Amino acid sequence: MLTGAGLGPSRTLARDPFTLGIASGDPSGDGVVLWTRLALDPLGLNGRGGMPVRDVEVQWQLATDERFATVVRRGTETARWKRAHSVHVELEGLEPGREYFYRFRAEGHLSPVGRTRTAPAALSPLTFAVAACAHYEHGYYTAYRRLAEQEPDLVVHLGDYIYEYAPRGYTAPGGSVRRHTWGKCATLADYRMRHAQYKSDADLQAAHAVAPWLVAFDDHEIENNWAGDVSSTGAPSFARRRANAFQAYYENMPLRRSSVPGGTSMRVHRRVDWGPLARFHLLDTRQFRDDQACEDGIRAGCDDRLDSGRTLLGEDQRGWLLDGLARSDARWNLVGQQILMAQRDAKAGPGTEVNMDSWDGYAAERTRLLTGFRDSGAANPVVLTGDAHMHHAADLKLDFDDPDSPRVAVELVTSSIASDGDGYRDEARVAETIAENPHISYLDQRRGYLVCRLDTEELRADFRTLDYISRRGAPAKTGARFTIPAGQSALT
Ligand SMILES: [Fe+2]
Repeated sequence: MLTGAGLGPSRTLARDPFTLGIASGDPSGDGVVLWTRLALDPLGLNGRGGMPVRDVEVQWQLATDERFATVVRRGTETARWKRAHSVHVELEGLEPGREYFYRFRAEGHLSPVGRTRTAPAALSPLTFAVAACAHYEHGYYTAYRRLAEQEPDLVVHLGDYIYEYAPRGYTAPGGSVRRHTWGKCATLADYRMRHAQYKSDADLQAAHAVAPWLVAFDDHEIENNWAGDVSSTGAPSFARRRANAFQAYYENMPLRRSSVPGGTSMRVHRRVDWGPLARFHLLDTRQFRDDQACEDGIRAGCDDRLDSGRTLLGEDQRGWLLDGLARSDARWNLVGQQILMAQRDAKAGPGTEVNMDSWDGYAAERTRLLTGFRDSGAANPVVLTGDAHMHHAADLKLDFDDPDSPRVAVELVTSSIASDGDGYRDEARVAETIAENPHISYLDQRRGYLVCRLDTEELRADFRTLDYISRRGAPAKTGARFTIPAGQSALT
């Protein structure tokens, strides 16, 4: 019998290529995206994950049971080496409101099994988790593990999924427990390798395997505090770097074809409907914004931040959002975005100091947006936020300085999964910040995530906290629980 010996490279992968796990995302009433990326060695040379320079055929299966006794769909996709051997399977024609299980096979190797689901057609309760900010060096991903153990129906990730810094380029107060891949990310290979390093974490893989995710990037998937075409470091060829970062982001996330980057642009603002119960409006607060006012940073006395000509969302996205709110029949309108929307004055006593990178740096557009929330008539707007590395619960008001100004929405800010290390609880500082900002009713500087349970009557938000991440195994506790009764736009 003839064999392939001597006829070129082996056509069999020698080891398990599913070292980066599996994922699913962007569910609709009849579909969802299945994802995997093959890597024999996640940190392999040139971002190729130790894979051969050839395409690999990948089979996938979707079943209604965990043991794959009832396979309802199957197919084959090509994991192209030019796309870092990533695979995106965009399914349609599935049944609404159903749980499904999926897995992949490549050249004799079987992937782990993932659980996913389609959005329901009818009103039914939803449990979703919210996460952000997972600096790999700053601590273990116990918070992702605890999130997975709660088995939410859906996970919303609001950015800083990776950090672009070189090893020890941004250190946490308590030091580092792990080390980034070499160098600050700049090339496509750098970003691919960094994503692979993060994805090789077992706790993160568990969180992906438990439910479909909705993802949107913030700054660190590209570079700290970038704004539109402007790099915060002023380094040349930012456009090239941004294109590399977008390409790697798409390759590593369970996104639909509508998010395939076109060079230096990429569409991540989108709507995801969860039947008549909820509409998620996911925003991009980086790509279309004007540069930060007054040289960025936390500043007092910056009049430019109030300039009505400044934009954070860009006119098109703002119009798209307000239109989507006005047309929404959903019981809850959940606006997933990155940066703190509530005003936060960091200076105790007279005077104001605010963060130029957050909505405080784009105050006129915030007022326009919140006025638009009110005028849209959309039911129960709730803003979900990341970035701050601190849990917050706040009321969003048309005028934060006027105690009588109406509340138009609630903001729930999730702390970081890992960024800034163990965290702490400083009651005096919390009391001071809340006294200065009475529309903020809760703050916690520990690590964690949010779990929200939503039905027609109320949204119940559990702020989950962990006391440490510098060692493995911390339990998660509920640091605070808020309920937002439907129709009230207020925290209780
Ligand atoms: Fe962050």
